[in-house]
Amino acid sequence: MNASQLSPAQTQNGQGQTAQGQAAQSPGGDKASASGGHSLYGGVTHRRVTVRDLAAAKQRGERWAMLTAYDALTAGVFDEAGIPVLLVGDSAGNCHLGYQTTVPVTMDEMVMLSAAVVRGTERALIVGDMPFGSYQESPAQGLRNAARLMKEAGVGAVKLEGGERSAHTIELLVDAGVPVMAHIGLTPQSVHALGGYPVQGRGEEAAHKLQRDAKAVQEAGAFAVVLEAVPAELAAHVTESLAVPTVGIGAGSGCDAQVLVWTDMAGMTAGRVPKFVKQYADLRGVLGEAARAYAADVLDGSFPAPEHTFK
Ligand code: KIV
Repeated sequence: MNASQLSPAQTQNGQGQTAQGQAAQSPGGDKASASGGHSLYGGVTHRRVTVRDLAAAKQRGERWAMLTAYDALTAGVFDEAGIPVLLVGDSAGNCHLGYQTTVPVTMDEMVMLSAAVVRGTERALIVGDMPFGSYQESPAQGLRNAARLMKEAGVGAVKLEGGERSAHTIELLVDAGVPVMAHIGLTPQSVHALGGYPVQGRGEEAAHKLQRDAKAVQEAGAFAVVLEAVPAELAAHVTESLAVPTVGIGAGSGCDAQVLVWTDMAGMTAGRVPKFVKQYADLRGVLGEAARAYAADVLDGSFPAPEHTFK
């Protein structure tokens, strides 16, 4: 059974508890799940995926997929497809809102987009990204803004960038009951300081720094760690050394999970995509073709036809 087959009574009213407030069971496998059986996702119909399920998946050695989502409709498609974790990434800046980078994205925008993704889904764990400037000032600022994502948007977890430098903030959030996904390696909010989007962790010193960052965020209580643009061998080593799952993007196949920006994955992005992206569809081509065919039908008068017309 998938999310679209649930009756309203079977769905849950938050992130991780049933309508009766009972602790949820561990999910089992289902033919409809993306991973086709022994899965983290798709078996139990009553609730969303939780951070505990992700910890259990690491214990079982089960890999999982994460996608970004920025609106209710697309998020609903991914939820029905069995994607267990959806990230409302601040990549919304360049993939949804028309900015050049993630830097201009605001808390208000993240709350609005995250709330839409929560409304459009029933099963996935929704992770809301903390945008640039929403947590760097102090741990207290981070907690205030993370609470907005949880209270106003209804996300089940937040993500923020930085290793050792963000450890105190992660600690405060986790102590306050906010599940935190950390993000190390290439941190796109630092694009101007980095001078672009270079691969991180190359060379002995940089590799040690990445390992320290990974340990620091785990010790601070992060439930998972995104590794972005890191050599595959180093990412695999970090993955083995951590008890919490790693989520790779441009970090090779040795991570516990993978994440892609949905517009890259589905071929919606214009122009060149990064080397680490696999495009599973040509959505840009399909949509463009549909728009051109529609316009041509309007131009030659063949749309609307009698079957599209009220009598
Ligand atoms: O904002 C985002 O989409 C991200 C992922 C690429 C990890 O941070």
